[in-house]
Amino acid sequence: MRPHVILNAAMTLDGKIATRGGDSAISSPEDLVRVHELRREVDGIMAGIKTVLQDDPRLTVHKVPSLGKNPTRVVVDSAARIPLKARLLGEAGRTIVAVSERAPATRLDALRAKAQVIVCGREEVDLEGLMERLHTLGMRTLLLEGGGNLNWSMLSQGLVDEVRVAIAPRIVGGREAMTLVEGEGRELVEKGIRLELVRHYPLGGDLVLEYRVLPVE
Ligand SMILES: NC(=O)c1ccc[n+]([C@@H]2O[C@H](COP(=O)([O-])OP(=O)(O)OC[C@H]3O[C@@H](n4cnc5c(N)ncnc54)[C@H](OP(=O)(O)O)[C@@H]3O)[C@@H](O)[C@H]2O)c1
Repeated sequence: MRPHVILNAAMTLDGKIATRGGDSAISSPEDLVRVHELRREVDGIMAGIKTVLQDDPRLTVHKVPSLGKNPTRVVVDSAARIPLKARLLGEAGRTIVAVSERAPATRLDALRAKAQVIVCGREEVDLEGLMERLHTLGMRTLLLEGGGNLNWSMLSQGLVDEVRVAIAPRIVGGREAMTLVEGEGRELVEKGIRLELVRHYPLGGDLVLEYRVLPVE
C-alpha cells in the first residue's frame, strides 16, 4: 500500500523547471495560489535533496490560509546532506528525511533533533519502500514537488498517479537546464509512461494541464 501521489511542477514551454542558472521562479502568482491550495489538501509534500539545496523551500502552506496544520514534509536525501539550517526544518509540523544506509551516523544524530529520519535503501533511497513506510505512518496523499531526477525515479517505478503541470509562456533554453523529468529515460516513445489528459485550463497567463497516469500495458 502506498499514498496517492500527485506530481506537480511549473515549467517553461520548452519543458524546463529551472534555468541553467538554477532560477526556478516559473509560476505566476495565480499558479502559486493553485499550488498552495493543492498543498493544503494533501497529507505530505516530497522533494529531492538537490531541490532543497538549490532553492531552500519551506514546503508549507503560506500563500493561502492553512487549515491549521502543514502537511508532513518529506526530503529524499540518501547521504543526509540536508543543512541543519534548511528552512523546512524550522517550519511548524513534521519533517521526514528519508536516507539510505550510506548516510553517516554522525549526521543522523544531529538531524534527529530536527526531523524524523527514515532509513530506507542501501545506496540511494528505496522509493517503493519509502512509499510503504509513509502509508504506514498514515499518509494517504502525497504531493511530489520534483526535481527532475526524483520525478524520473518516481514515474519510472510506477509510483505516480497524477501529473499536473503549469506551463509558463516563456522559453529559456539551455542544455544544462533542468527539465520536468531527467534520469535515464526510455529508448522508445511506445515505452514512455502513458498519460490521459483529464483537465486543462488557462491560469494567470499559464496553462495548467492535469493528467492521470495510466497503468503499464
Ligand atoms: N519548477 C518547479 O516546479 C520545480 C520543482 C521542484 C524542483 N525544481 C528544480 O529542480 C532542480 C533540482 O532537480 P534535481 O533533479 O537536480 O534534483 P532532485 O530531484 O530535487 O533531487 C535528486 C537527488 O535526490 C537524491 N535521491 C535519493 N534517492 C533517490 C532516488 N531513488 N531517485 C532519485 N533521486 C534520489 C539524490 O541525491 P543523493 O544521492 O544525495 O541522495 C539525487 O541526486 C532545482 O533547480 C529546482 O529548482 C523545479
